[in-house]
Amino acid sequence: MSTTSTKGVALITGASTGIGAVYADRLAKRGYDLILVARDEARLNALAERLRTETGVKAEVIKADLTDKADVAKLEQRLATDTAITALVNNAGVAGSNDFTGSDPDAFDKMIQLNVTTVTRLAAAAARNFAPRNSGTIINLASVVGLMPELNMPVYGATKAFVTYLTQGLRVQFGDSAVRLQAVLPGATRTEIWERSGSDIDAMDPNMVMGVDDMVDAALAGLDQGELVTIPSLPDAADWHGALAAKAKLYPNLSRSEPAARLR
Ligand SMILES: NC(=O)c1ccc[n+]([C@@H]2O[C@H](COP(=O)([O-])OP(=O)(O)OC[C@H]3O[C@@H](n4cnc5c(N)ncnc54)[C@H](OP(=O)(O)O)[C@@H]3O)[C@@H](O)[C@H]2O)c1
Repeated sequence: MSTTSTKGVALITGASTGIGAVYADRLAKRGYDLILVARDEARLNALAERLRTETGVKAEVIKADLTDKADVAKLEQRLATDTAITALVNNAGVAGSNDFTGSDPDAFDKMIQLNVTTVTRLAAAAARNFAPRNSGTIINLASVVGLMPELNMPVYGATKAFVTYLTQGLRVQFGDSAVRLQAVLPGATRTEIWERSGSDIDAMDPNMVMGVDDMVDAALAGLDQGELVTIPSLPDAADWHGALAAKAKLYPNLSRSEPAARLR
């Protein structure tokens, strides 16, 4: 890419389908050039071609397996050094198996690699690029599953709780920097992730399932409103802030010199 749009370039992982592909569409329509990343090069090329034709933006395709250390390292290098890049959508993720005693632990390892390790490394690379320029946007795809252990997806849920915490913690570390950070916590969203993880989204109450276009549009509205954490289906953001305030009531007693009287 020799010249770039005024918005700069958005790098989107997991852009070959689902939520990532809709982010690509919406960010192109907002005037971003694109770097689209996933393993399925044919799908990425088809999307890139459509978006070039429809919107006139530049769209580059990078085939990468984000559980592969060498592929991740190449992407980190690009993200950390290419100053045309102004946004990262850290979206690629798998839901995978959650049967703790019955699953191959290597499958957990791969899920953690993609959903946690790669997300962290790419966010860190983008931060090295954005922080000195006091600009840029990092969007991390978490999930409401990370708020609800009751959903019985202990490994996937933990990876997604990590993503929310990481984003909240980065906001603290970035202080009043103009770098925008957002964790997006979708509920059930109609994409291939369900089929890929052996679940049937049609078995769910349709009132709980959001279309992928609506989900991404709502998440981007949350970004525009400056939300750090966006739950696209939550009617009243005050409920989220209330939950945070309830948790903060614990803080004065979380680290003290004496054990609690009830435990003596
Ligand atoms: N859909 C939901 O209900 C839902 C709810 C909450 C959160 N989320 C989160 O939203 C994000 C996107 O999910 P989605 O529903 O759009 O999933 P999806 O339809 O299954 O798409 C996942 C994307 O990630 C890419 N990907 C998977 N493994 C990869 C790997 N090893 N290396 C590189 N790319 C890889 C896939 O592309 P290739 O196969 O071409 O590599 C695909 O583009 C995920 O982080 C997910 O946890 C989804």
